[in-house]
Amino acid sequence: MKVEFVAFPKAFSGNVALFVGAEKVLQASARAVDETLDGAVTRAIAASRFTGAKNQTLCVLGQAGFSRLMLLGVGKESELDARAAEALGGLVAADANTAGQTAVTIVADTIKGNKLAPAEVAAHLALGARLRCYRFDKYKTKDKPEQKNSLERVTIAVASPAEARKAYAALEPVVDSVFFTRDLVSEPANVLYPAEFARRAKGLAKLGLKVEVLGEAAMKKLGLNVLLAVGQGSERESQLLIMSWMNGPKNQAPVALIGKGVTFDTGGISIKPAGGMEDMKWDMGGAGAVTGAMRLLAARKAKANVIGICALVENMPDGNATRPGDVVKSLSGQTVEIINTDAEGRLILCDAMWYVQEKYKPQAMVELSTLTGAIIIALGHERAGLFSNDTPLSDKLRKAGSEIGEKLWRMPLGPKYDKLIDSDIADMKNVGGGRDGGSITAAQFLQRFVKEGVAWAHLDIAGMAWSSKGNETTPKGATAYGVRLLDRLIADNYEK
Ligand code: BES
Ligand code: MN
Ligand code: ZN
Repeated sequence: MKVEFVAFPKAFSGNVALFVGAEKVLQASARAVDETLDGAVTRAIAASRFTGAKNQTLCVLGQAGFSRLMLLGVGKESELDARAAEALGGLVAADANTAGQTAVTIVADTIKGNKLAPAEVAAHLALGARLRCYRFDKYKTKDKPEQKNSLERVTIAVASPAEARKAYAALEPVVDSVFFTRDLVSEPANVLYPAEFARRAKGLAKLGLKVEVLGEAAMKKLGLNVLLAVGQGSERESQLLIMSWMNGPKNQAPVALIGKGVTFDTGGISIKPAGGMEDMKWDMGGAGAVTGAMRLLAARKAKANVIGICALVENMPDGNATRPGDVVKSLSGQTVEIINTDAEGRLILCDAMWYVQEKYKPQAMVELSTLTGAIIIALGHERAGLFSNDTPLSDKLRKAGSEIGEKLWRMPLGPKYDKLIDSDIADMKNVGGGRDGGSITAAQFLQRFVKEGVAWAHLDIAGMAWSSKGNETTPKGATAYGVRLLDRLIADNYEK
């Protein structure tokens, strides 16, 4: 899809979207069009419940000179921030595709009193349109043209097109990185298994990322036995993917980003019920987000030191699979009784976390995983669960999340929860306390692998990695939740 920025034309035609502010205040271009159309815009508003509130739209059809005319509610001037502009861009793009339009012009009138510069409004409108037009249709061989996205060109008319072009160029890597992650998460598990995930990550070396992959032999030598125990029932080789982006000050300790990459989670011997099991192809959403974030940091040449590490395995039942009750020694030296082979995320992460701390001595460690169904019960699909031993890091993450629109909610940790995973036979067991507080006991397990003095956060993104509904900027399916959150966390706190 092509994006272009132009100055306000003298007259409008074709497929056009115009700003209307709260309480039906037509912005300059809507006013001008209303005049040329002898009040058709005002009449259409009067015949509807459209008020110009944020994200309201009204199509004024059948007007001479226009293939389609849309009024876009921008709400109060204070409401038009970057996220709001992206949502509007997404709404317009979706409408154009539904209507089979190949082009649309969004007229980004300068809104008096708005804090966001018009060029930024324009750039984020374009970003939202692009993000909404993602489609994963590579396996559809029979799509009719009307089932495909029709939109080919988005034009944004704005007071400062040159500035807008520059602002958009800075945002374009976001689109490519989010799409990279959405592709990883959308792929079926017969196509995307650990080695294939690693292969795609290796392709990011062209952006300047250093990418290393450890196979099973190397991990065995090092002692990542708990990670290997999860993958041992699979025909596919487990992988540890390590991406480094060290473009910050020479002696500054890196931030480590860690991702759960279970390319398919059957549950193993503690097998899951059949209904909905196909969802477990996206049990690598954490790894997908970390890899997309690393891609974005490299693409925009972030001035930071960041290590991205992904534990990639497939969790299968098999004659060689781990049995409930097996005891395995982790890289940290601590022993784990594997009571439930379906609680596999924490198992692969504990060794990856220990490895990254030993090898890279990070100042902070942020881990993302589709870890528990229980977090979906607690928070639904609006917020990821945030668990941390460090309030400053928590606050940085929450701030980044609310700025970028990938929200978090801090959850508790504590010794009473921790006690629930003590084992009778080993140092700990991988589940405890029944289903009660299931997301918290999972986090307690991970915390046992955090070294003294390391700021750590665990983001349980089980409710966020996939959307069955979609929203203004995300079609249903893989969301790439976490990519922009991590990028913003680094940009706001660890650069320069
Ligand atoms: N990958 C699942 C968690 C999950 C569930 C993610 C639904 C997305 C949607 C995880 O490995 C898992 O199976 N967790 C178990 C833990 C239980 C066995 C303690 C769960 O949540 O049921
Ligand atoms: Mn599982
Ligand atoms: Zn899982």
